[in-house]
Amino acid sequence: MDHAPNAVATPIRSICCIGAGYVGGPTMAVIADRCPHVQVTVVDLNAARIAAWNDPDLSRLPVYEPGLDAVVGRARGRNLSFSTAVDAAIAEADMVFISVNTPTKTRGLGAGQASDLRWVEACARQVARCAQGHTIVVEKSTLPVRTAEAIRAILAAAERESEGPTPSFSVLSNPEFLAEGTAISDLEQPDRVLIGGEDPAAVEALAGLYGAWVPPDRILRTNVWSSELSKLTANAFLAQRISSINAIAAFCESSGADVQEVARAIGTDSRIGPKFLKAGPGFGGSCFQKDILNLVYLCRHEGLDEVAHYWEAVVTLNTWQQHRIARLVVNRLFGTVTGKRLAILGFAFKADTNDTRESPAIRIAGDLLEEGAQLAIHDFKVPAERMAADLGLEPTPPDAGGGPGAAALSGEGAWWPAASPEEAVAGADAALILTEWQAYSALDWAALASRMRQPAWVFDARGVADAAAVQAAGLRLWRVGQGESAP
Ligand code: NAD
Ligand code: UGA
Repeated sequence: MDHAPNAVATPIRSICCIGAGYVGGPTMAVIADRCPHVQVTVVDLNAARIAAWNDPDLSRLPVYEPGLDAVVGRARGRNLSFSTAVDAAIAEADMVFISVNTPTKTRGLGAGQASDLRWVEACARQVARCAQGHTIVVEKSTLPVRTAEAIRAILAAAERESEGPTPSFSVLSNPEFLAEGTAISDLEQPDRVLIGGEDPAAVEALAGLYGAWVPPDRILRTNVWSSELSKLTANAFLAQRISSINAIAAFCESSGADVQEVARAIGTDSRIGPKFLKAGPGFGGSCFQKDILNLVYLCRHEGLDEVAHYWEAVVTLNTWQQHRIARLVVNRLFGTVTGKRLAILGFAFKADTNDTRESPAIRIAGDLLEEGAQLAIHDFKVPAERMAADLGLEPTPPDAGGGPGAAALSGEGAWWPAASPEEAVAGADAALILTEWQAYSALDWAALASRMRQPAWVFDARGVADAAAVQAAGLRLWRVGQGESAP
């Protein structure tokens, strides 16, 4: 499509965003910051989350993102508020964003692949019940293609059933492309904003909001289905690049090639480009796997088995990479980690976030716990309760004298949170770098090595450690896509 932006749009005065998560919170904070004349209310069922968004101490917001505290600090209490009063916020709004979770279904039809749309449907019904006058409903969540059809059907029933002044609705798709850790800069300087819709006035009303800070040529207009599918496709392509480089990383390790050199060599080809070519422990995060599996499900549903199989391989390779790294650690440590202490450096799925959803650390630590390892886990932003929930295991610290805990003696896997990398490596046979926190590239390996049990290893699954310093400290080093080197 790309219809000319000449439709007459009524300016938006009041926005409600349902879902105060990693997308809803930062996205609405930036909209409120850039559009001070628009009242923005972010609502959620989760009262604890809303309370955290309202915490006077901006370091305690529920989402950690560099720069988020400053944006919230400027807009909160002016034209940005966080509330649990969902119905009232919908009734007040000219535009309602649906930004709720859309995880993979865990049971029933499509379990393990299809998106669970129950929260989206609940939102649509709530909007249908509470909206007043004309309301533009915006899909911000990542959704299967043609979800807008279902939302429209639910809203249309409200239009018919309404007893008071008849509400009316327009449905738009406006997927979010921010990445965690860089959410604020992604929102403030997006590569593009995508708006899918059939009602030109609604499309222009939304484009008008973004137009407050996004250059016009970066606001793309498409039909609704293209917009919905573009989101799934963007994530599939990004994840595919990671699986591709991780596949080559494994081959580098067995062939003597160096994946960082290969990535640089291919990335200078302007058709390939340098981004998203970092080999690592596999992609994590709440979306890549979920969105690809959703695409796989939809393709299979359409009878496109080969297409489904093609994209499914991206996820299969990713899972394999995570198990491969855990296996490799066990093999290098003389074939057993039972009762051995290992330091896990990094638990978040990437640097600069407190999010651990689908983090590679969960699977890798899980495999090592299964082998009976004793893990001291360090992360700069992930609290111990989150680690315990993700691992499905409560922490059991080593005994007070620093000797092996009871779990080690029984051969059971155990873990405990470490307050610093120094604490994590105490008595450890190996340190595994699983998140690329900046500080892990500047560790004092000589000091750390003196606290480890020799011969000790560094397994650098992110390729960020200072290799010369590791080796100078007398440690053995394995790096993803580069293989191992003795001190
Ligand atoms: P999230 O789980 O952090 O937040 C979703 C919030 O919605 C939760 O706080 C939940 O309590 C709330 N919620 C659910 N149903 C509700 C209802 N009926 N009424 C009120 N609140 C309700 O999820 P997220 O990471 O913000 O992702 C949201 C959507 O955005 C997903 O579809 C995701 O695929 C997509 N997305 C996420 C990212 C990301 O980086 N996390 C990026 C782009 C797109
Ligand atoms: C990703 C996309 O980048 C966003 O555009 C999208 O909006 C978002 O998913 C979503 O839909 O949720 P995000 O998952 O937050 O964002 O973070 P990424 O930077 O994409 O990283 C995802 C995973 O891939 C991380 O585990 C990261 O460490 C890994 N990765 C990334 C690599 O292993 N190598 C790379 O070169 C890049």
